[in-house]
Amino acid sequence: MDTPFVYGKLAVGKNFTDRETEKNQLIRNFLSGTNTILISPRRWGKSSLVLKAASEINSKENNLMIVFIDLFNIRNEEDFYKALAENVIRASSSRLEEVVSNVKQFMKQWVPRITFSPDSQQEFSLGLNWNELKKQPDEILDLAENIARSKEQKMVICVDEFQNIAFFEDPLAVQKKLRSHWQTHQSVSYCLYGSKRHMLMEVFTSSSMPFYKFGDLLFLSKIAVNFWIPFIMERFRSTGKAISAKQAEKIAVLVEGHPYYVQQLAQLVWLRTNKAVSGNIIDQAMEGLVLQISLLFQGITESLTTSQISFLKMLVDGEKRYSTGENIHKYNLGSSANVIRIKKSLIAKEIIDEQSNGLIILDPVYSSWLRKYYFK
Ligand SMILES: Nc1ncnc2c1ncn2[C@@H]1O[C@H](COP(=O)(O)OP(=O)(O)OP(=O)(O)O)[C@@H](O)[C@H]1O
Ligand SMILES: [Mg+2]
Repeated sequence: MDTPFVYGKLAVGKNFTDRETEKNQLIRNFLSGTNTILISPRRWGKSSLVLKAASEINSKENNLMIVFIDLFNIRNEEDFYKALAENVIRASSSRLEEVVSNVKQFMKQWVPRITFSPDSQQEFSLGLNWNELKKQPDEILDLAENIARSKEQKMVICVDEFQNIAFFEDPLAVQKKLRSHWQTHQSVSYCLYGSKRHMLMEVFTSSSMPFYKFGDLLFLSKIAVNFWIPFIMERFRSTGKAISAKQAEKIAVLVEGHPYYVQQLAQLVWLRTNKAVSGNIIDQAMEGLVLQISLLFQGITESLTTSQISFLKMLVDGEKRYSTGENIHKYNLGSSANVIRIKKSLIAKEIIDEQSNGLIILDPVYSSWLRKYYFK
Protein backbone atom coordinates (compact mmCIF):
# COMPACT_ATOMS: atom_id res chain seq x y z
CA MET A 1 0.00 0.00 0.00
CA ASP A 2 1.19 3.53 -0.71
CA THR A 3 1.96 5.44 2.45
CA PRO A 4 -0.22 8.52 2.88
CA PHE A 5 2.48 11.04 3.81
CA VAL A 6 5.11 12.64 1.66
CA TYR A 7 8.40 14.17 2.69
CA GLY A 8 11.59 14.86 0.81
CA LYS A 9 9.52 15.22 -2.35
CA LEU A 10 7.40 18.12 -3.44
CA ALA A 11 3.97 18.14 -1.83
CA VAL A 12 1.36 18.16 -4.60
CA GLY A 13 -2.33 17.35 -4.93
CA LYS A 14 -3.81 15.89 -1.77
CA ASN A 15 -0.42 15.99 -0.08
CA PHE A 16 -0.55 19.76 -0.08
CA THR A 17 -2.32 21.69 2.65
CA ASP A 18 -3.01 25.30 3.60
CA ARG A 19 -1.02 28.18 2.09
CA GLU A 20 -4.16 29.72 0.58
CA THR A 21 -3.06 33.29 1.24
CA GLU A 22 0.45 32.81 -0.05
CA LYS A 23 -0.74 30.79 -3.02
CA ASN A 24 -3.24 33.47 -4.01
CA GLN A 25 -0.66 36.19 -3.73
CA LEU A 26 1.70 34.21 -5.97
CA ILE A 27 -1.07 33.66 -8.50
CA ARG A 28 -1.91 37.36 -8.47
CA ASN A 29 1.72 38.27 -8.97
CA PHE A 30 2.18 35.76 -11.78
CA LEU A 31 -0.92 37.03 -13.59
CA SER A 32 -0.07 40.68 -13.14
CA GLY A 33 3.59 40.28 -14.05
CA THR A 34 4.90 41.29 -10.63
CA ASN A 35 8.28 39.96 -9.56
CA THR A 36 8.32 37.92 -6.36
CA ILE A 37 11.05 36.95 -3.95
CA LEU A 38 10.11 34.07 -1.67
CA ILE A 39 12.25 33.21 1.33
CA SER A 40 12.02 30.60 4.08
CA PRO A 41 14.32 28.24 5.90
CA ARG A 42 14.91 24.86 4.30
CA ARG A 43 12.05 22.38 4.00
CA TRP A 44 9.27 24.77 4.89
CA GLY A 45 7.59 24.34 1.53
CA LYS A 46 8.79 26.99 -0.95
CA SER A 47 9.17 24.72 -3.95
CA SER A 48 5.86 22.97 -3.27
CA LEU A 49 4.08 26.30 -2.98
CA VAL A 50 5.44 27.74 -6.23
CA LEU A 51 4.60 24.52 -8.05
CA LYS A 52 1.09 24.57 -6.59
CA ALA A 53 0.47 28.16 -7.71
CA ALA A 54 1.89 27.37 -11.13
CA SER A 55 -0.21 24.28 -11.66
CA GLU A 56 -3.35 26.10 -10.62
CA ILE A 57 -2.63 28.81 -13.17
CA ASN A 58 -1.75 26.28 -15.86
CA SER A 59 -5.10 24.59 -15.52
CA LYS A 60 -7.00 27.82 -16.18
CA GLU A 61 -4.78 30.14 -18.09
CA ASN A 62 -3.12 29.19 -21.36
CA ASN A 63 -1.72 32.58 -22.13
CA LEU A 64 0.97 32.29 -19.48
CA MET A 65 4.06 30.13 -19.79
CA ILE A 66 5.77 29.14 -16.57
CA VAL A 67 9.41 28.18 -16.68
CA PHE A 68 11.22 26.43 -13.82
CA ILE A 69 14.94 26.64 -13.28
CA ASP A 70 16.48 24.90 -10.30
CA LEU A 71 19.91 26.17 -9.34
CA PHE A 72 20.32 23.22 -6.99
CA ASN A 73 23.28 21.81 -8.91
CA ILE A 74 24.34 24.93 -10.76
CA ARG A 75 27.55 26.43 -9.48
CA ASN A 76 28.73 28.73 -12.23
CA GLU A 77 27.53 31.36 -14.63
CA GLU A 78 27.96 29.23 -17.75
CA ASP A 79 25.71 26.48 -16.44
CA PHE A 80 23.17 29.06 -15.43
CA TYR A 81 22.92 30.45 -18.95
CA LYS A 82 22.68 26.95 -20.34
CA ALA A 83 19.83 26.07 -17.95
CA LEU A 84 18.07 29.36 -18.65
CA ALA A 85 18.20 28.93 -22.42
CA GLU A 86 17.19 25.26 -22.37
CA ASN A 87 14.29 25.71 -19.98
CA VAL A 88 12.92 28.76 -21.75
CA ILE A 89 13.07 26.96 -25.10
CA ARG A 90 11.51 23.83 -23.60
CA ALA A 91 8.63 25.70 -21.97
CA SER A 92 7.83 27.59 -25.13
CA SER A 93 7.98 24.63 -27.51
CA SER A 94 5.27 22.04 -27.38
CA ARG A 95 6.70 19.91 -30.14
CA LEU A 96 10.08 18.80 -31.35
CA GLU A 97 9.91 20.89 -34.52
CA GLU A 98 9.12 23.90 -32.41
CA VAL A 99 12.34 23.48 -30.44
CA VAL A 100 14.27 23.67 -33.67
CA SER A 101 12.33 26.61 -35.07
CA ASN A 102 12.46 28.57 -31.80
CA VAL A 103 16.18 28.05 -31.54
CA LYS A 104 16.61 29.19 -35.14
CA GLN A 105 14.43 32.22 -34.72
CA PHE A 106 15.60 33.45 -31.33
CA MET A 107 19.21 32.37 -30.99
CA LYS A 108 20.92 34.22 -33.78
CA GLN A 109 24.02 35.55 -32.11
CA TRP A 110 24.77 32.28 -30.40
CA VAL A 111 23.73 29.45 -32.67
CA PRO A 112 23.70 26.26 -30.65
CA ARG A 113 23.91 22.65 -31.67
CA ILE A 114 20.75 20.84 -30.57
CA THR A 115 21.15 17.29 -29.32
CA PHE A 116 17.98 15.32 -28.73
CA SER A 117 17.93 12.57 -26.20
CA PRO A 118 17.34 9.13 -27.74
CA ASP A 119 14.85 8.12 -25.01
CA SER A 120 12.62 11.15 -24.87
CA GLN A 121 11.46 13.41 -27.66
CA GLN A 122 11.05 16.28 -25.22
CA GLU A 123 14.62 16.14 -23.92
CA PHE A 124 17.34 18.02 -25.66
CA SER A 125 20.43 19.97 -24.84
CA LEU A 126 21.97 23.02 -26.40
CA GLY A 127 25.64 22.86 -27.31
CA LEU A 128 27.48 26.14 -27.25
CA ASN A 129 30.72 27.59 -26.10
CA TRP A 130 29.12 28.87 -22.92
CA ASN A 131 32.42 30.28 -21.78
CA GLU A 132 32.52 32.59 -24.76
CA LEU A 133 28.85 33.41 -24.40
CA LYS A 134 29.45 34.50 -20.83
CA LYS A 135 31.24 37.57 -22.15
CA GLN A 136 28.13 38.65 -24.04
CA PRO A 137 25.06 36.99 -22.61
CA ASP A 138 22.55 39.66 -23.69
CA GLU A 139 20.72 37.50 -26.19
CA ILE A 140 20.28 34.69 -23.67
CA LEU A 141 19.14 37.06 -20.94
CA ASP A 142 16.52 38.51 -23.29
CA LEU A 143 15.56 35.18 -24.84
CA ALA A 144 12.44 34.77 -22.70
CA GLU A 145 11.24 38.30 -23.39
CA ASN A 146 11.79 37.94 -27.13
CA ILE A 147 9.93 34.65 -27.30
CA ALA A 148 7.05 35.82 -25.10
CA ARG A 149 6.59 38.98 -27.13
CA SER A 150 6.62 37.29 -30.47
CA LYS A 151 4.08 34.70 -29.28
CA GLU A 152 2.04 37.44 -27.61
CA GLN A 153 2.10 35.54 -24.37
CA LYS A 154 3.29 36.25 -20.86
CA MET A 155 5.97 34.26 -19.13
CA VAL A 156 7.02 33.72 -15.51
CA ILE A 157 10.50 32.42 -14.79
CA CYS A 158 10.78 30.68 -11.44
CA VAL A 159 14.32 30.31 -10.16
CA ASP A 160 14.63 27.91 -7.22
CA GLU A 161 17.63 27.85 -4.83
CA PHE A 162 18.50 31.35 -6.00
CA GLN A 163 21.05 31.68 -3.19
CA ASN A 164 23.37 29.46 -5.25
CA ILE A 165 24.44 32.42 -7.35
CA ALA A 166 26.72 33.12 -4.39
CA PHE A 167 28.88 30.23 -5.67
CA PHE A 168 29.47 31.94 -9.00
CA GLU A 169 32.90 33.42 -9.54
CA ASP A 170 31.70 37.02 -9.44
CA PRO A 171 28.16 37.02 -7.99
CA LEU A 172 27.81 40.78 -7.98
CA ALA A 173 28.72 41.15 -11.62
CA VAL A 174 26.21 38.44 -12.54
CA GLN A 175 23.49 40.12 -10.51
CA LYS A 176 24.19 43.38 -12.33
CA LYS A 177 23.85 41.68 -15.70
CA LEU A 178 20.64 39.90 -14.76
CA ARG A 179 19.04 42.95 -13.25
CA SER A 180 19.89 45.26 -16.10
CA HIS A 181 18.11 42.97 -18.55
CA TRP A 182 15.31 41.64 -16.43
CA GLN A 183 14.09 45.04 -15.32
CA THR A 184 13.39 46.00 -18.92
CA HIS A 185 11.20 42.97 -19.57
CA GLN A 186 7.54 43.70 -20.20
CA SER A 187 6.23 40.22 -20.92
CA VAL A 188 8.30 38.23 -18.46
CA SER A 189 8.28 38.38 -14.68
CA TYR A 190 10.42 36.54 -12.18
CA CYS A 191 9.87 34.51 -9.06
CA LEU A 192 13.15 34.03 -7.22
CA TYR A 193 13.20 31.83 -4.16
CA GLY A 194 15.58 30.18 -1.79
CA SER A 195 16.56 29.49 1.76
CA LYS A 196 19.64 31.42 2.84
CA ARG A 197 17.68 34.23 4.43
CA HIS A 198 20.68 36.30 5.34
CA MET A 199 22.29 36.18 1.98
CA LEU A 200 19.01 36.73 0.13
CA MET A 201 18.07 39.65 2.35
CA GLU A 202 21.39 41.24 1.51
CA VAL A 203 20.79 40.69 -2.21
CA PHE A 204 17.23 42.02 -2.25
CA THR A 205 17.03 44.63 0.49
CA SER A 206 20.38 46.30 0.56
CA SER A 207 20.23 49.55 -1.37
CA SER A 208 23.70 49.12 -2.80
CA MET A 209 22.82 45.82 -4.47
CA PRO A 210 21.57 45.43 -8.06
CA PHE A 211 18.42 43.52 -7.05
CA TYR A 212 17.34 46.11 -4.50
CA LYS A 213 13.53 46.50 -4.65
CA PHE A 214 13.25 44.03 -7.51
CA GLY A 215 9.86 42.73 -6.40
CA ASP A 216 7.49 41.70 -3.64
CA LEU A 217 9.29 40.12 -0.72
CA LEU A 218 7.42 37.15 0.76
CA PHE A 219 8.48 35.27 3.87
CA LEU A 220 6.96 31.84 4.15
CA SER A 221 6.07 30.68 7.63
CA LYS A 222 5.56 27.19 8.98
CA ILE A 223 2.06 25.70 8.70
CA ALA A 224 -0.24 26.34 11.65
CA VAL A 225 -1.37 23.43 13.79
CA ASN A 226 -5.07 23.96 13.01
CA PHE A 227 -4.36 23.17 9.34
CA TRP A 228 -2.42 20.06 10.18
CA ILE A 229 -5.16 18.49 12.30
CA PRO A 230 -7.74 17.92 9.52
CA PHE A 231 -4.95 17.12 7.07
CA ILE A 232 -3.46 14.35 9.20
CA MET A 233 -6.87 12.97 10.11
CA GLU A 234 -7.92 12.82 6.48
CA ARG A 235 -4.71 11.11 5.38
CA PHE A 236 -5.22 8.42 8.04
CA ARG A 237 -8.88 8.02 7.14
CA SER A 238 -8.06 7.62 3.45
CA THR A 239 -6.11 4.45 4.28
CA GLY A 240 -8.67 3.03 6.67
CA LYS A 241 -6.84 4.07 9.85
CA ALA A 242 -8.03 6.42 12.56
CA ILE A 243 -6.42 9.20 14.53
CA SER A 244 -8.16 11.64 16.87
CA ALA A 245 -7.94 15.41 16.57
CA LYS A 246 -5.99 15.53 19.81
CA GLN A 247 -3.46 13.01 18.56
CA ALA A 248 -3.10 14.77 15.22
CA GLU A 249 -2.51 18.00 17.09
CA LYS A 250 0.15 16.36 19.19
CA ILE A 251 2.07 15.29 16.09
CA ALA A 252 2.05 18.83 14.69
CA VAL A 253 2.98 20.41 18.01
CA LEU A 254 5.87 18.04 18.72
CA VAL A 255 7.65 19.21 15.58
CA GLU A 256 6.42 22.80 15.80
CA GLY A 257 4.39 22.72 12.57
CA HIS A 258 7.56 22.20 10.50
CA PRO A 259 6.10 20.92 7.20
CA TYR A 260 8.71 18.30 6.43
CA TYR A 261 8.83 16.90 9.94
CA VAL A 262 5.05 16.88 10.45
CA GLN A 263 4.76 14.66 7.40
CA GLN A 264 7.65 12.47 8.51
CA LEU A 265 6.40 12.06 12.06
CA ALA A 266 2.85 11.41 10.87
CA GLN A 267 4.25 8.73 8.59
CA LEU A 268 6.11 7.06 11.46
CA VAL A 269 2.95 7.10 13.57
CA TRP A 270 0.94 5.73 10.66
CA LEU A 271 3.41 2.88 10.16
CA ARG A 272 3.14 1.86 13.81
CA THR A 273 -0.64 1.98 13.75
CA ASN A 274 -2.81 -0.98 12.96
CA LYS A 275 -6.29 0.47 13.01
CA ALA A 276 -6.37 3.39 15.40
CA VAL A 277 -3.55 5.35 17.01
CA SER A 278 -3.35 4.28 20.61
CA GLY A 279 -1.29 4.39 23.78
CA ASN A 280 2.06 6.10 23.43
CA ILE A 281 2.60 5.38 19.74
CA ILE A 282 3.18 9.08 19.07
CA ASP A 283 5.84 9.42 21.75
CA GLN A 284 7.55 6.28 20.51
CA ALA A 285 7.49 7.55 16.95
CA MET A 286 8.96 10.89 18.02
CA GLU A 287 11.68 9.13 19.97
CA GLY A 288 12.39 6.96 16.95
CA LEU A 289 12.68 10.07 14.79
CA VAL A 290 15.05 11.80 17.22
CA LEU A 291 17.27 8.74 17.51
CA GLN A 292 17.26 8.16 13.77
CA ILE A 293 18.90 11.56 13.26
CA SER A 294 20.92 11.68 16.47
CA LEU A 295 24.22 10.80 14.82
CA LEU A 296 23.85 13.81 12.58
CA PHE A 297 22.97 16.01 15.56
CA GLN A 298 26.00 14.70 17.42
CA GLY A 299 28.17 15.74 14.48
CA ILE A 300 26.64 19.22 14.27
CA THR A 301 27.10 19.76 17.99
CA GLU A 302 30.72 18.62 17.94
CA SER A 303 31.45 21.22 15.30
CA LEU A 304 30.28 24.04 17.59
CA THR A 305 32.30 26.02 20.12
CA THR A 306 31.55 25.80 23.83
CA SER A 307 29.91 29.21 23.88
CA GLN A 308 27.80 28.45 20.81
CA ILE A 309 26.51 25.37 22.63
CA SER A 310 25.81 27.44 25.75
CA PHE A 311 23.87 29.87 23.63
CA LEU A 312 21.74 27.01 22.31
CA LYS A 313 21.19 25.90 25.89
CA MET A 314 19.83 29.35 26.65
CA LEU A 315 17.40 29.07 23.71
CA VAL A 316 16.34 25.56 24.72
CA ASP A 317 15.62 26.93 28.20
CA GLY A 318 13.22 29.38 26.59
CA GLU A 319 15.23 32.50 27.44
CA LYS A 320 14.41 35.55 25.33
CA ARG A 321 16.72 38.09 26.97
CA TYR A 322 19.86 37.00 25.21
CA SER A 323 22.33 39.58 26.43
CA THR A 324 21.38 40.59 29.94
CA GLY A 325 24.22 40.51 32.42
CA GLU A 326 22.44 37.78 34.31
CA ASN A 327 22.21 35.45 31.32
CA ILE A 328 25.70 36.25 30.08
CA HIS A 329 26.92 35.14 33.49
CA LYS A 330 24.59 32.14 33.82
CA TYR A 331 25.47 30.76 30.38
CA ASN A 332 29.07 31.87 30.42
CA LEU A 333 28.81 33.92 27.25
CA GLY A 334 31.60 36.40 27.96
CA SER A 335 30.24 39.78 26.89
CA SER A 336 27.34 41.24 24.97
CA ALA A 337 29.63 41.78 21.98
CA ASN A 338 30.40 38.10 22.14
CA VAL A 339 26.70 37.25 22.27
CA ILE A 340 26.23 39.13 19.00
CA ARG A 341 29.11 37.22 17.44
CA ILE A 342 27.71 33.88 18.57
CA LYS A 343 24.28 34.74 17.28
CA LYS A 344 25.68 35.76 13.91
CA SER A 345 27.72 32.60 13.54
CA LEU A 346 24.81 30.32 14.46
CA ILE A 347 22.59 32.13 11.96
CA ALA A 348 25.26 31.76 9.29
CA LYS A 349 25.42 28.03 10.04
CA GLU A 350 21.62 27.93 9.63
CA ILE A 351 21.21 26.45 13.09
CA ILE A 352 19.16 29.34 14.42
CA ASP A 353 17.16 32.07 12.74
CA GLU A 354 15.58 35.34 13.70
CA GLN A 355 11.79 35.30 13.55
CA SER A 356 9.29 37.97 14.52
CA ASN A 357 8.98 36.47 17.99
CA GLY A 358 12.69 36.07 18.64
CA LEU A 359 15.35 33.50 17.84
CA ILE A 360 14.41 29.93 17.07
CA ILE A 361 16.38 26.75 16.64
CA LEU A 362 15.54 25.97 13.04
CA ASP A 363 15.35 22.22 13.31
CA PRO A 364 12.67 21.29 15.87
CA VAL A 365 13.97 17.74 16.12
CA TYR A 366 17.48 19.00 16.87
CA SER A 367 15.97 21.21 19.52
CA SER A 368 14.19 18.21 20.99
CA TRP A 369 17.39 16.13 20.89
CA LEU A 370 19.34 18.88 22.64
CA ARG A 371 16.73 19.12 25.37
CA LYS A 372 16.16 15.41 25.91
CA TYR A 373 19.57 13.89 25.33
CA TYR A 374 22.33 16.46 25.17
CA PHE A 375 21.57 18.90 27.98
CA LYS A 376 19.88 16.30 30.18
N1 LIG B 1 1.73 22.89 1.74
C1 LIG B 1 2.22 21.75 2.25
N2 LIG B 1 1.38 20.80 2.76
C2 LIG B 1 1.88 19.67 3.29
N3 LIG B 1 3.17 19.38 3.36
C3 LIG B 1 4.06 20.27 2.88
C4 LIG B 1 3.62 21.49 2.29
N4 LIG B 1 4.71 22.19 1.90
C5 LIG B 1 5.76 21.42 2.23
N5 LIG B 1 5.40 20.26 2.80
C6 LIG B 1 6.31 19.21 3.32
O1 LIG B 1 7.60 19.78 3.45
C7 LIG B 1 8.54 19.11 2.61
C8 LIG B 1 9.48 20.14 2.00
O2 LIG B 1 8.80 20.91 1.05
P1 LIG B 1 9.56 21.69 -0.11
O3 LIG B 1 10.57 20.83 -0.74
O4 LIG B 1 8.52 22.31 -0.95
O5 LIG B 1 10.27 22.81 0.79
P2 LIG B 1 11.42 23.84 0.39
O6 LIG B 1 11.23 25.03 1.26
O7 LIG B 1 11.43 24.04 -1.07
O8 LIG B 1 12.71 23.04 0.86
P3 LIG B 1 14.25 23.30 0.40
O9 LIG B 1 14.68 24.57 1.03
O10 LIG B 1 14.97 22.12 0.97
O11 LIG B 1 14.26 23.36 -1.08
C9 LIG B 1 7.69 18.36 1.59
O12 LIG B 1 8.37 17.18 1.18
C10 LIG B 1 6.45 18.03 2.38
O13 LIG B 1 6.68 16.89 3.20
MG1 LIG C 1 12.92 23.75 -2.49
